[in-house]
Amino acid sequence: MVSIPWQSRGFKIWAAQSGDGALFRDRGHLDDAEQERFALRFGNLVPHPTIGASKGTASIIDVDSVRPASRVDLWHSDGTFVDAYPKITVLRGVVIPPSGGDTVWSNTAAAYLDLPLPLQRLADELWAVHTNDYGVRTSGEADKKYYDEIFTRTIYETEHPVVRVHPETGERTLVLGYYVQRFVGIPKYDGQKLLDLFQSHITAPENTVRWNWKEGDLAIWDNRATQHYAVNDYGDARRIVRRATIDGDLPVSVDRRCSVTRIKATKQPPANVT
Ligand SMILES: [Fe+2]
Repeated sequence: MVSIPWQSRGFKIWAAQSGDGALFRDRGHLDDAEQERFALRFGNLVPHPTIGASKGTASIIDVDSVRPASRVDLWHSDGTFVDAYPKITVLRGVVIPPSGGDTVWSNTAAAYLDLPLPLQRLADELWAVHTNDYGVRTSGEADKKYYDEIFTRTIYETEHPVVRVHPETGERTLVLGYYVQRFVGIPKYDGQKLLDLFQSHITAPENTVRWNWKEGDLAIWDNRATQHYAVNDYGDARRIVRRATIDGDLPVSVDRRCSVTRIKATKQPPANVT
């Protein structure tokens, strides 16, 4: 397996199989099978916990701008509402708008190092509850239906340490983002301020890289050491990217405790009305 030693600062552009950091290369026109075969270099493919996988694939989801809830202009790491969330994401540009639709990544190890020592110590001790049941963001009927019936068909609440020790590099990375509901033992009002404070270091331009997609590009990132954001600035133009994910490992805190899922509740299917 290729290891991905994240550097403490900045991003390295991938050179074929060097295994550094995020990688972006024009990979021509891969199909789903070739994308998944490529992703398999990094571990085992894993489907999305509630959306599942596209027909005929093990893990691929279609992120298409005409579908409900597909514009993920929110800072997040993929799937942190489950305990062992994906360690690697492989994203393929299929249809790219004439302008806009960039992806921005943040290096959460660099963000941790940015924190003054007392805030590092605070982060080291904090735990946060992540959930996929964060509330639908728009009033659109299609978005609401998708959110209720698919995205939250199983509701998860998982406690992660705010700082996890990267299993391959030993670096400390921040585990936060949009799926955070609250901090353990901290009232919501104070918690929101803390989240804003930590996120401001994560999203600082110094800790980010921005990618302007071309069709056929492939982006690969270590989901344990990054957050990302899809810039929603392309209006009605079509944007389609397809995502494969690799099974993750259970986050481990600075004091060697593991993440734990507290709630995993599958909704009852609606009763048939005849
Ligand atoms: Fe994502």
